Amino acid sequence: MQDSDAIKLRILILISFLCFGFVNGQNYNVLNFGAKGDGQTDDSKAFVEAWNATCGGEGDMKTLLIPTDKTLLLQPVAFEGPCTSTSIKIQLDGDIVAPSNQKAWSNSQFEMWISFTTVSGLIVVGSGKINGCGSSFWEQKVSQRPTALHFTKCDNLRISGITSIDSPKNHISIKACENVAISNINLLAPEESPNTDGIDISDSTNVNIFESTIQTGDDCIAINTGNTNINITRINCGPGHGISVGSLGANGENAIVSDVQVTSCTFNQTTNGARIKTFPGGQGYARNISFEDITLINAKNPIIIDQHYVNTQRLDAAEDSAVAISSIKFIGFRGTTPNENAITLDCSATTRCKDVVMDGINITMADGEKPKVECKNVDGKSEDTILMRDCFQNA
Ligand SMILES: *[C@@H]1O[C@H](CO)[C@@H](O)[C@H](O)[C@H]1NC(C)=O
Ligand SMILES: *[C@@H]1O[C@H](CO)[C@@H](O)[C@H](O)[C@H]1NC(C)=O
Ligand SMILES: *[C@@H]1O[C@H](CO)[C@@H](O)[C@H](O)[C@H]1NC(C)=O
Ligand SMILES: *[C@@H]1O[C@H](CO)[C@@H](O)[C@H](O)[C@H]1NC(C)=O
Ligand SMILES: *[C@@H]1O[C@H](CO)[C@@H](O)[C@H](O)[C@H]1NC(C)=O
Repeated sequence: MQDSDAIKLRILILISFLCFGFVNGQNYNVLNFGAKGDGQTDDSKAFVEAWNATCGGEGDMKTLLIPTDKTLLLQPVAFEGPCTSTSIKIQLDGDIVAPSNQKAWSNSQFEMWISFTTVSGLIVVGSGKINGCGSSFWEQKVSQRPTALHFTKCDNLRISGITSIDSPKNHISIKACENVAISNINLLAPEESPNTDGIDISDSTNVNIFESTIQTGDDCIAINTGNTNINITRINCGPGHGISVGSLGANGENAIVSDVQVTSCTFNQTTNGARIKTFPGGQGYARNISFEDITLINAKNPIIIDQHYVNTQRLDAAEDSAVAISSIKFIGFRGTTPNENAITLDCSATTRCKDVVMDGINITMADGEKPKVECKNVDGKSEDTILMRDCFQNA
C-alpha cells in the first residue's frame, strides 16, 4: 500500500510539473493592463503593472508584449528584479516614446529613463523603436541627462532587433552585467547631439556586441573600467566618435580593463576610430586589447592612444602615475582619412605603452599620401617598417 501511495505521489508531482509546463510561454500584453498606446496618454502605470505581473508570474519564460502599431508614452520607469522566473522576454513590436520635451518629464533630473536592475535572463527583442526625444535636453546643455535604456546587474541579458532614436544621453548603458549579447540593433542620434554614446559598458564580463549600426553624437561604444572579455564584431559606426576604451583613470581612479576584441568594424565619417584614452594621474591597467580588420571611410583619427586626455577640470593634472597600457594590437586598418595626423600613440612617460603591435595599416589621404604617425613613449613592433619607422624606441 505504501508503495502504491508513493507511486501516486510521484504521478501527482509529474502532473503538476506538466501543468507548470502549460503556463510556460505566457504573454502579458500591456493593453490588457490599461495602456492606451496612442503616444499621447501616459502609459507608465499600465507598463509598470504589466511588468509586475510578468516579473511575479509563474512559468519559466514569460513575455511582456508591446504590440505592433501601438506607441507607449513613458515617464521615467524603473523595473526591478529579481523575478520569479529564470527568463523574461520583452517583445517590443510597437514603439516607446519619451515625453516630447524636458518640461513634460515628471522628473528630468533622473539619470535614467527606462532602467532594469537585477533582472537575470532578460531578453529585449522586436523591431520596435524607442524614441528618447532628447533634443530639448541637448539644446539646454543641462549636465544631468537621462540615459535611454539602463541595465544594472542583469546577467544573461540579450538585446536584439530594436532601434533607439535621439536618446537624451547614452542610448544604452550596461553596468555590472555578466554574459550579455547585443545584436542587430540600430542606435541613431544626430552627429552634433552631445554625449549620446551608443553603448556604454562598465564593470561587466563576457559582453558580445555584433552586427549593429550606430550613428550618433559621441562614442559608438565606450568600454569603461571594470570590463573584461568584451567582443565587438561587425559594427557600422558613424557618424560618431568611434569605439573607445575609456576614458580611464579620472580623479586617480584604479582602472581595470582587459581582453577586449574589436573585429570587422567600419568607421564611416567618424572623429575617431580605435581609441584608448586615459587621464593623467590614474592607476591600474588596460591590457590585451585588439582592433582588427577595420574599414575606414574618411575617419579623422583612425588609431589613437591618448594618455594625456584631460577635461577642463584637470588641466593641471600632474603625470605622476598613469593607467598602464599593454598588449595592444592594431591590425588590418584600410581606408581613408582627411587628417594628416591620423595615427597618434601618445603614451605616458611613467608607464609607457608596452607590447604594441601595428600590422597591415593602409590608410590614405584624399591625395593618395600616407598620413603621419606620432608616437610618444611606445614599445612595440610593426611589419609596416616605413610607416612606423620612427615609432618604437625599443626596436
Ligand atoms: C509594482 O511592484 C512594486 C514592487 O512590488 C510595487 O512597489 C509597486 O507599487 C507596483 N506597481 C504597480 C503599479 O502595481
Ligand atoms: C566574438 O563574436 C563573434 C560574433 O558573435 C564570434 O564569431 C566570435 O567567435 C567571438 N569571439 C570570441 C573570442 O568570443
Ligand atoms: C586576450 O583576449 C582574448 C579575448 O579577447 C582572449 O581570448 C585571450 O585569451 C587573451 N589573451 C591573454 C594572454 O590573456
Ligand atoms: C558612409 O556614410 C555616408 C554618409 O552618411 C553614407 O552615404 C554612405 O553610404 C556610408 N558608406 C558605407 C559604406 O556605409
Ligand atoms: C593600400 O590601399 C590602396 C587603396 O585601397 C591600394 O591601392 C593598395 O594596393 C593598398 N596597399 C597595400 C600594401 O595593401
